[in-house]
Amino acid sequence: MCGIIGYIGYRKASEVLYSGLRTLEYRGYDSAGIATLDGGKISLIKDEGRIEQIHSKHNFFRLAGKIGIGHTRWATHGGVSQKNAHPHTDCKGRFCVVHNGVIENFDELRMSLIAQGHKLSSETDTEVVAHLFEEEAKKTKDASEAFSKAVSKLSGSWSLVAMREGEQAIYVSRNGSPLVLGIGSGEMFCASDIPALLPYTKEVVFLEDGDRAILTKNGYLIVGKDGKRQNRKVHTISWTANMAEKGGYPHFMLKEIAEQEEKMREALACDVSGAIRLLRNRKQLTVVACGTSYYAGLVLKTAMQCWLGLCVDVILGSEFAYMRTGKEKVVLAISQSGETADTLSAVRLAKKSGAKVIAVTNVAGSSLYREADANVMIGAGPEIAVVATKSFTCQVAALLKIALLLSGRKAELARLHALPELIGGVIRRSAEIQKIAKKLSGRRDFFFIGRSFAFPAALEGALKLKEITYLHAEAYAAGELKHGPLSLLEKDVVVLALAPSDGTLPKTISNIEECKARNATLMVLSDSKDALSKSELHFRMPSCDPFAVPILYAIPLQLLSYYMAVGLGRDPDKPRNLAKSVTVE
Ligand code: AGP
Repeated sequence: MCGIIGYIGYRKASEVLYSGLRTLEYRGYDSAGIATLDGGKISLIKDEGRIEQIHSKHNFFRLAGKIGIGHTRWATHGGVSQKNAHPHTDCKGRFCVVHNGVIENFDELRMSLIAQGHKLSSETDTEVVAHLFEEEAKKTKDASEAFSKAVSKLSGSWSLVAMREGEQAIYVSRNGSPLVLGIGSGEMFCASDIPALLPYTKEVVFLEDGDRAILTKNGYLIVGKDGKRQNRKVHTISWTANMAEKGGYPHFMLKEIAEQEEKMREALACDVSGAIRLLRNRKQLTVVACGTSYYAGLVLKTAMQCWLGLCVDVILGSEFAYMRTGKEKVVLAISQSGETADTLSAVRLAKKSGAKVIAVTNVAGSSLYREADANVMIGAGPEIAVVATKSFTCQVAALLKIALLLSGRKAELARLHALPELIGGVIRRSAEIQKIAKKLSGRRDFFFIGRSFAFPAALEGALKLKEITYLHAEAYAAGELKHGPLSLLEKDVVVLALAPSDGTLPKTISNIEECKARNATLMVLSDSKDALSKSELHFRMPSCDPFAVPILYAIPLQLLSYYMAVGLGRDPDKPRNLAKSVTVE
């Protein structure tokens, strides 16, 4: 969702903003813009479309100045258009602002501003902030105070970054949407996400909800919601700038798939001691997560229920408010970004009724990380493609490690360490998957089936395919087909059967037969000769423990989606309508 970058220092701001926006592209957007301050005056370029297109049409670099703010917009209020793109300005273009989040009382503020004579030119919720800033600046010469007063009138969620003509400063505020400050020498930055800052600094400060800050080229000052000056912790980021680059791969997604052999080693080395402390001797656990992370949660459920007899409720972040008991003692939240609004709001609700929170996340310092009582860092490194790949396999590895340790399964835990090698082996056979993708081109309907640990893998496989190919894909527990979906099977429908040779195999083979009998096209992933012989279209998997299936089988499914998307001419890194970090509910 919307990406923000701000800069003040000695460099040409438009260049910093342009490269920051390019790095933030993965968050998902439909329009973009920058504004710089030069000679005390604000100049602005914004338009709909991709950053590259906007740059070649308008040339961002024609904007001079060493202070500036930039934005990628993911439309919420008002359609995708140049006038709705950020930055937004006041009536005379003297104040400008970019925003991520939703101003809930914007309608009421808008009416009152119009009544005061303001002319608003967009349909966005954001524009009111620039006009409020203008209005408050009539009452005080202190721009920081005017900005604070303007922000105090808002309700909703935001990260806001603003400039005022004639001021050598950037004003920022955070409430419910991520914003991180980057500390340089003689320069300061702010951004929605760490990767945008990596080329310049590794010293960052995560703002808390309710914080306001003023940035100058020589430093920053943070004021908390109590109105008092705050010294927030400075974090040193271990990620490097080239981790967030394609490194010779045509797409981030392919790079991130390829990284899984190495990242799996890091995930398996993760520290789970805090989580174990909170989980030992529990009879019940609630897991909250969204999307891919939710599927990782289903793997944990299967493991914990089978091995420990522990009752595990896995609840979608967006459903938690309607399903919680209010008696949850420990909530384990899974989120790659640590910024997913639905997951965060579930965590906050649970905390209010006294639950302890374990975060399983990829981003140190993220909102979830800071809310949690214990953190498990999955060690996947920056994930730039909108779709989750390495973060899923690393989440599952970290979660399995927790479940294996809690259930005292030392031998099984040791065997998990064979996974990186096995993953590498599958990745090195990418060409086989590419051929299968070609054979399946032209098909429009895909069903993924699996049992037990293979079921979450099937769900994740279907999600990947639909996200980046825009084809119809859904997943079922293999035994469920006969309870309804079988009616949809016919010649051109593809069934991808995940059939590992564990206790589930005989029944999965029966389900494969059911699909064959309905003339569906089968593609079988298995380590069993029997299962593979059921279809000409198949991929031979290495044998592994049943609990390792979600990790190992995810790899060919990720590759299949990738090659099918590329074959269809889609951009697998930036699927339409989707955002990497979903920061609104
Ligand atoms: C996965 O490919 C998706 N892009 C999406 O489902 C994602 O997993 C979901 O939005 C949750 O994100 P999080 O892990 O950062 O919380």
